[in-house]
Amino acid sequence: MAYSETKVVLGGLAHIPIIIGFFYLIKRQYSFGALLRTSKNALSDKVKAAPAKTSAGSAKPAAASKKPESIKPLAESTPSAPSKAAAAKKPKPHADVPVNTYKPKAPFTGTVTENYSALKEGAIGKVQHITFDLSGGDPDFKYVEGQSCGILAAGEDAKGKPHRPRLYSIASTRYGDNFAGNTLSLCVRQLQYEKDGETINGVCSTYLCNLSPGDKVKISGPVGKEMLLPEEEDSNIIMLATGTGIAPMRAYLRRMFEPTEIEKHRWNFKGKAWLFMGAPKTANLLYDADFEHYKSKFPENLRYTKAISREQKNTKGGRMYIQDRVLEYAEEIFDMIENPKTHIYLCGLKGMEPGIDEAMSTAASAKGLDWSELRPKLRKAGRWHAETY
Ligand code: FAD
Ligand code: A2P
Repeated sequence: MAYSETKVVLGGLAHIPIIIGFFYLIKRQYSFGALLRTSKNALSDKVKAAPAKTSAGSAKPAAASKKPESIKPLAESTPSAPSKAAAAKKPKPHADVPVNTYKPKAPFTGTVTENYSALKEGAIGKVQHITFDLSGGDPDFKYVEGQSCGILAAGEDAKGKPHRPRLYSIASTRYGDNFAGNTLSLCVRQLQYEKDGETINGVCSTYLCNLSPGDKVKISGPVGKEMLLPEEEDSNIIMLATGTGIAPMRAYLRRMFEPTEIEKHRWNFKGKAWLFMGAPKTANLLYDADFEHYKSKFPENLRYTKAISREQKNTKGGRMYIQDRVLEYAEEIFDMIENPKTHIYLCGLKGMEPGIDEAMSTAASAKGLDWSELRPKLRKAGRWHAETY
């Protein structure tokens, strides 16, 4: 090999470490980029996999969270604009409403704080407003407007067994009559009827009506999701009540129009409420002064129509029942029903249901509508709520 050829070969060989070094650097750079990308993904996966925080900011599941020191009313849900994905996964309305916290076999023991007549002088029968202190439960006895509870009367039945529970609609809001969030109120009519010349007193209603402050009472529940209020603040609420069927309506109306309630919650009712109330005499109109007061304060939002069966006559000369009032205002009621934001609540005597149905059928056909088709649709849409007994 000539000298010049040797120089070229040696020069070429001398470049080999430089070329290897160059490839090593490229490889390292590439690996680092890949590492960066990988760690970024890993990080975002970690965020996705972290358990969702509860509204209180704790990552613990709600059931395992520490019991609050004092009883608190059920939290108000916070309305927020959900993303598309969140909307698709939106839980059923009222999914967080408590049901059967205390079962009849292991009831809560409440203490009577008040028991007074809900009637005026000259009224028929006995109807009491009764309040129980719910403090000290573990878990807390929480409920929302429109739910009921079970009462287990003291003593035994004819077979020597404990009395079966009777249901009563809760007449207070979740904040209670004292707004402290630790009481529950009921509106109870004592059942009395004549049999073979003898007056029979209902077991549980008599027990409740005769309670005194300080008495301990076994309470189960809360139960029921049929009579819950919609979450939308601009809903319209038509209420049809007879007698103690006013209990859930009282809770709704306090929630809508009682100033301290409004201060407490963030649910500011902006719709129209219309209460139809059936009672035998003026003296039997339950919570009438409160409702008249709300009407005077919120004339744009509350209408209050009474059917006083033993003092007023319907167009046929018979007793004035709420179905007669429904017929009287049929056009306005159906204008409201045409609005998808309108809900109808029916509570009280079972016997009023056929009468209401008949009145609604007549009113619907005047508008060219078929009530037998419309009612199931309203029910399916969660806008027809009935609880009669
Ligand atoms: P019981 O001793 O159980 O006697 C009732 C039985 O007496 C009846 O089953 C029947 O066999 C018989 N009876 C009744 N009347 C007559 C009669 N005229 N002639 C012959 N026999 C008769 N009540 C309220 O006061 N306020 C409420 O808010 C309320 N909310 C309710 C909510 C729901 C969801 C339900 C289902 C019921 C509600 N009730 C309410 C009714 C309550 O549950 C009881 O049924 C009622 O208090 C009577 O119970 P009692 O133990 O006093 O009568
Ligand atoms: P009445 O008893 O005069 O026939 P309370 O529970 O305080 O007695 O109130 C119930 C109200 O419901 C009363 O005015 C009662 O009238 C009325 N009522 C009774 N039966 C029906 C019915 N089938 N439809 C509508 N209202 C009724």
